Amino acid sequence: MPNLTEKNCYILGIESSCDDTAAAVINNGVVLSNVVATQQIHEEYGGVVPELASRAHQQNIVPVVHQALRKANIDKKQLSAIAFTRGPGLMGSLLVGTSFSKSLAMGLGIPLIDVNHMQAHILAHFIKVEEQNTPNFPFLALTISGGHTQIVKVTDYFDMEIIGQTIDDAVGEAFDKSAKILGLPYPGGPLIDKYAQQGDPKKFKFTKPKVQPMDFSFSGLKTAVLYFVEKEVDKNADFISENIEDICASLQFTIVDYLMDKLKNAVKHTGITEIAIGGGVSANSGIRNALKEAETKYGWTTHIPKFEYCTDNAAMIAIVGELKYKQQRFAKNDVLAQARMKL
Ligand code: KG4
Ligand code: ZN
Repeated sequence: MPNLTEKNCYILGIESSCDDTAAAVINNGVVLSNVVATQQIHEEYGGVVPELASRAHQQNIVPVVHQALRKANIDKKQLSAIAFTRGPGLMGSLLVGTSFSKSLAMGLGIPLIDVNHMQAHILAHFIKVEEQNTPNFPFLALTISGGHTQIVKVTDYFDMEIIGQTIDDAVGEAFDKSAKILGLPYPGGPLIDKYAQQGDPKKFKFTKPKVQPMDFSFSGLKTAVLYFVEKEVDKNADFISENIEDICASLQFTIVDYLMDKLKNAVKHTGITEIAIGGGVSANSGIRNALKEAETKYGWTTHIPKFEYCTDNAAMIAIVGELKYKQQRFAKNDVLAQARMKL
């Protein structure tokens, strides 16, 4: 039985749900190491190829875990527990992290802790970071990634309710698919962000999709970008290269404005003004600035994660591991990876 009163609990977190193989060690809320091996192989295919992702995880996982332990300057025998991403994600990818974590926990004779990836994007806010306060319950979390777009009411660490979500594509997909139309490599989100910072956000107009007040829809936006670009390229073959900054700025402006509209609706609906963002798209400069502005504009208290805790990482898995460890919420050794998993 683990000694839960032990002062130094060291949790190893392992993340392998999509195309990043990651491992991190956390000690009482403080990240000692956070290693991510991003798989480059998918770039040439314009999106994640599940079979290749799984194989790359198999190659990466041992060196990534070794590096995380070395950087944290601890031996695996000092670990208190192993936390791993159980789902949601790509089955072939999840299986690598799940089987590796099970075997390591069994070999070391320490508890195994299963983690929900989407909960982890939200609970990443409880990692101790200098000069940043952790959110107070209840708060609203806007989780925006390549696979999800949700507004979640967070009442306690493990008491979460989805109050709004996308009815089709995720916002990260809207960024990536639009980027592909513009001829940018995968993942295009960060590149749109980069070009957007040099462009005029009011130059082109894209319509914001209409759905329920706290829900989202992005598939129409992607089509609108496609038709717009096709029409303009017909008139001028160099349209994209001559206007890339303004196209990206206008598109990003539309998306950010849409996300903020939905957040405003959620604040109105719940009366909660403490807001946290998470997931890969929370690295976007537009949404980060809009949220910062909302502090003075609307009197919200906002929580914006450090860049390394926005996109997929294992520190967020390790912090959930630590929270569950303290509550003795352990997984059985026959736990299975789950491609679809509720929050
Ligand atoms: O959370 P994440 O790393 O993986 C998933 O769980 O999906 O999110 C990846 C997504 C991709 O769609 C990527 O394009 C997007 O996050 N992303 C961004 C930015 N950085 C990452 N989108 C817009 N602006 C960014 N700066
Ligand atoms: Zn993610």
